[in-house]
Amino acid sequence: MKYFLDSAILDEIVYADKHWGIDGVTTNPRHIKNSGKPFMEVIGQLAKQFAGRKFPISVEINPHLEVAEEMVAEAKRIAALSSNFVIKIPCTEQGLVAARELAIQGVPVNVTLIFSPSQAIQAARIGACYVSPFVGWKESAGEAAMDYVEDIAEIFSIHAYKTEIIVAAVRTGHQIARAASAGADIVTAGFAVYKDSFTHPFTAHGLDLFRRAWDETETEE
Ligand code: E4P
Repeated sequence: MKYFLDSAILDEIVYADKHWGIDGVTTNPRHIKNSGKPFMEVIGQLAKQFAGRKFPISVEINPHLEVAEEMVAEAKRIAALSSNFVIKIPCTEQGLVAARELAIQGVPVNVTLIFSPSQAIQAARIGACYVSPFVGWKESAGEAAMDYVEDIAEIFSIHAYKTEIIVAAVRTGHQIARAASAGADIVTAGFAVYKDSFTHPFTAHGLDLFRRAWDETETEE
């Protein structure tokens, strides 16, 4: 399973790329707002940072756009800035019309804000590269979330859809592991979520025990 970093903060993206070997980046309007920088500056820096390397970076169109033609125009404007940009389109009826047109024109699309298998099926049918089911939002609302990821993975396998599943809005290492066992192709999580997922209290406890044993052992030659 591939790991994408869900972030618009260049420093942490560079760190996670260099030290963790992440496979791509996803952004959204909230991440860009949280970076404290203007939209064009953030995506310009990302385009520059990964120029010359295959490294998918999802960039979302203006969420106020509701008409397919406007979405397509905006998506093409953003996609022209970097061959790594994958355009995030919301899963509305007009969003799916736009995603279909973009797929026909060869623009890679990530259909985002997916909350049901039926949304994922239409995104796959029309040739989206990725679908993004938001598990964290569902689980925060008290709904089972991995069931629908499993359903989407099974449907995509039965019908041989090429669309990849990005499990998004991931809050814990446990959700990362469940996304992997549910058949997700990719998980996208924030910097702190990954960092936390690399550790375990028993690892720290064990290390502490082993350090004390080391200190109480003759280790000089
Ligand atoms: C995924 O592509 C989204 O950017 C992200 O996971 C949305 O969720 P969040 O901003 O609540 O984490």
